[in-house]
Amino acid sequence: MTIPQGLFLTFEGIDGSGKSTQARRLADHLQAQGRDVVLTREPGGSPGAEEIRRLVLEGDPDRWSAETEILLFTAARRDHLERTILPALEAGKVVICDRFADSTRMYQGLSRGDLRALVDQLHGLMIGREPDLTILVDMDPETGLSRAKGRQGTEERFEDFGPELQRKMRSGFLGLADEFASRFRVIDGNRDMDAVARDIAGVVEQALV
Ligand code: ADP
Ligand code: TYD
Repeated sequence: MTIPQGLFLTFEGIDGSGKSTQARRLADHLQAQGRDVVLTREPGGSPGAEEIRRLVLEGDPDRWSAETEILLFTAARRDHLERTILPALEAGKVVICDRFADSTRMYQGLSRGDLRALVDQLHGLMIGREPDLTILVDMDPETGLSRAKGRQGTEERFEDFGPELQRKMRSGFLGLADEFASRFRVIDGNRDMDAVARDIAGVVEQALV
């Protein structure tokens, strides 16, 4: 008897790169093929982790130190992993997650000093799981910023820190794609949504065979 094994896919990239749009489109595409798909996001994706999302993305942006923020994002991820991601994978489903640990490596690891080693240590202790495949939607930082600014809401995002940080995050994500080359696929997000979606579907179908 074979144990069903799901596929764990993540989307990464700067704010406004089109991750959420493409994650949704990929979920629809795979569902139309009859696959069992769970579409989820970070921070969040389980009731407890959604509560932590409010703590980290709303209110005064200087509320938490960089180190406390790493703990909060990792706590949210642990709850999400236990309650949503692992049960779905064990049931043989495809899990599509909008951001995961690579976002912590970038935002908490690089934006307020070099805390990458701390992020990796905590990840090793508390999460210890990498995606099977990570789609990096690569995007020109200025375009990403203007797309992201078009949204309204009460959440504080890193886009609010401006173009400098967006540029740093973009090159950081490209660096991660080199570091974890076997699971990363870089997709050019500076095109119309259909073209981007087609490339992503192609890359994922290769991983599913
Ligand atoms: P992210 O999740 O990476 O922040 P979103 O998917 O929320 O990005 O997209 C940000 C904004 O840009 C949304 O208004 C979305 O409709 C728009 N958008 C997404 N992809 C494209 C694209 N390829 N071309 C033009 N606009 C896009
Ligand atoms: P998200 O809702 O994906 O924002 P966007 O759609 O604009 O890309 O994520 C909200 C913010 O949370 C985003 O600015 C990135 C940040 N974030 C971190 O700083 N660390 C993390 O580990 C994660 C998952 C997100």
